[in-house]
Amino acid sequence: MRLKNLKMFTVVMMIVMLAGALAGCGSSASKDIKLGLLNEMTGGNATFGTSAANGAKMAIKEANAKGGVLGKQIQAVIADNKSEPSEAANAMTKLVTQDKVAAVTGVFASSNAIAASSVAEASKVPFLAVGATNPKVTVDEASKKVKDYTFRVCFIDPFQGTVGANFVLNTLKLQKAAILIDNSSDYSKGLSAFFKDAFTKGGGSILAEEAYLQKDQDFKTILTKIKALNPQIIYVPGYYEEVGKIVKQARELGITVPIVGGDGWDSPKLVEVASASALNNTYFTNHYSVEDTSPTSRSFVEAYKKEYGQVPDALAVLGYDAANILIDAIKRANSAEPNKIREALAATKNYPAVTGSTTLNKTHDAVKSAVIIEMKNGKQVFKATVKP
Ligand code: PHE
Repeated sequence: MRLKNLKMFTVVMMIVMLAGALAGCGSSASKDIKLGLLNEMTGGNATFGTSAANGAKMAIKEANAKGGVLGKQIQAVIADNKSEPSEAANAMTKLVTQDKVAAVTGVFASSNAIAASSVAEASKVPFLAVGATNPKVTVDEASKKVKDYTFRVCFIDPFQGTVGANFVLNTLKLQKAAILIDNSSDYSKGLSAFFKDAFTKGGGSILAEEAYLQKDQDFKTILTKIKALNPQIIYVPGYYEEVGKIVKQARELGITVPIVGGDGWDSPKLVEVASASALNNTYFTNHYSVEDTSPTSRSFVEAYKKEYGQVPDALAVLGYDAANILIDAIKRANSAEPNKIREALAATKNYPAVTGSTTLNKTHDAVKSAVIIEMKNGKQVFKATVKP
């Protein structure tokens, strides 16, 4: 009886091992290279995530039409982080363990990117973030060490905050500001601090710093407090949902001063929420302007309009650039092995991206220009490009 059991056990084990070997064979011989597209497809920031995914899908489609990479086709595996950090970690885990992707790109919100990056680092899978600008995305907060597997294709907030502050001081020529901070976002907290730093160093003063949380609806109490202090400008480095409501309610309270923000404003929904007229006399720093007249930009905008029937926003462009840079890294690595891709990503130099020539520096961040956009009658009007 015992012997029989042992025999049975051996047979079962052999089947299990054989199946495992076959499965292993199957995956290594599969003809596609899988790339994870991890984005905010639903939830409060869905327009951003959908744009980034659309941009990346277009880049993958174009690469596949040209024969793919390493002689294989690229398969996009889409995962939704539902605009939440915990879901971003879950989605990254799924891409790595179930889908077994070679690398991941996507994620615009810094808090979500920081959460996704922890999983990427632990799993040693390259992660190229798209629009997450907080320094903590690529540099570990506790150890201050550059993370091995995490990179990004955008500039970072110490630069963005400085560009915003200098614009207010030198172009608008205003020195007294109030700041409204979204305390539920690493992005907003960071960008406020970098703005404040540059603004006060440049001779400006901060009259008030007020906080709110994502999904808040009523901002009139804090806006009334701010109005009483008579600031010359209000800095609101938040995301479009809350920013739209803040701008609308500020104008309703008779606050007419310029309101300035960052890349989190860049959504067609901003105008829907705030209204075109409330947005007059507002400005924000961003990664890209559709009015960019370079030939690379022109042909991208045309191709994107043809594919999706709408004008690309900054995240669509960054998503497209990120997927292309990742594919280029796989090509240069001549391998889809995570460690080789990681090395090639770190060596990215002067890649001709739509958002500008892209080099990834020692901290794995892109060093590139920012643009300043003015909202005029509901339209984004390009004002200036600021070099790093
Ligand atoms: N930079 C923002 C963040 O870190 C996200 C963002 C990127 C928003 C690009 C719009 C455009 O959270």
